[in-house]
Amino acid sequence: MIKVENLNKIYKSVHALKDINLHVKKGELFAYLGPNGAGKSTTIRILTALTNPTSGSVSINGFDIKNSGFSFKSNSIKSRQQCGLVPQSINLDQELSVYENLTIHGLLFRMGKSERNKKIEELLSYVDLSSRKESLVKELSGGMKRRLMIARALMHSPSVLFLDEPTVGLDAGMRRKIWGLIKKIQQQGTTIFLTTHYIEEAEFLADRVAFLDTGTILVVDTPSNLMSRLGTWALDRLIEDKMEPIYFNNREEANNYIASQNESFTLRRVNLEDAFLSMTGKKVK
Ligand SMILES: Nc1ncnc2c1ncn2[C@@H]1O[C@H](COP(=O)(O)OP(=O)(O)OP(=O)(O)O)[C@@H](O)[C@H]1O
Ligand SMILES: [Mg+2]
Repeated sequence: MIKVENLNKIYKSVHALKDINLHVKKGELFAYLGPNGAGKSTTIRILTALTNPTSGSVSINGFDIKNSGFSFKSNSIKSRQQCGLVPQSINLDQELSVYENLTIHGLLFRMGKSERNKKIEELLSYVDLSSRKESLVKELSGGMKRRLMIARALMHSPSVLFLDEPTVGLDAGMRRKIWGLIKKIQQQGTTIFLTTHYIEEAEFLADRVAFLDTGTILVVDTPSNLMSRLGTWALDRLIEDKMEPIYFNNREEANNYIASQNESFTLRRVNLEDAFLSMTGKKVK
């Protein structure tokens, strides 16, 4: 579905992506996890043909998108039609209504009026915004704007949805609501490529996760495999002023360790943050 080979991106003085290789399967929810500046948005911009790579190749559903540029004459319209994009920063037209924002997107993809209006009704109900159809975007809350961006990206029924930090800046309740929506979109057969620096988001949603750090992919695997490499249980120890967890394969081993020490520890399950930390030595956020 998404195939990336030896992808490099060099901005003037920054080697933002270094030999990225990825293969995302049809119907998969793939999370691209990394700290600020790791190269997440750059990758999404290349995969959605908004930026050209310096070298390497990218194909989506068999369409080669390298160097296709944004031209309705080239075959990039075909590859673009495969993709829906929810960019990191909100780029809705604030002075227009919810309905108008979706209509403009439909027009861009040459949808006819009745097809457009049917899709708008369907999507607004899907993202729980039917009652805000006539509201101006500037009157919506942050969470509503994110949901509208997702609806907009789904207007032309893409087979792959790219979500660049879809829940950044939202409260925990709204984040969970959007997670539910993302799961629902995947269940309908859409392949999803999501970037995030929220560990729990990747852990909760992803079939597979890539750890990205300063332009390099460190590992790609399922969240459960990444965590079980370390063990099942963790104890947090403060050594000097650094938290250094120790990992155990079973609870008994952990309890024996606690009994042998003079301190009190809290036993917890290993999480994806542990896996990231152990590979990079740094936290994602
Ligand atoms: N248009 C640009 N010109 C020059 N450098 C850029 C440009 N866009 C990104 N970069 C640099 O490339 C690197 C990767 O940036 P990118 O935006 O892809 O990271 P990110 O993982 O999305 O980070 P964040 O979590 O902050 O969104 C950074 O060092 C950034 O400064
Ligand atoms: Mg980004």
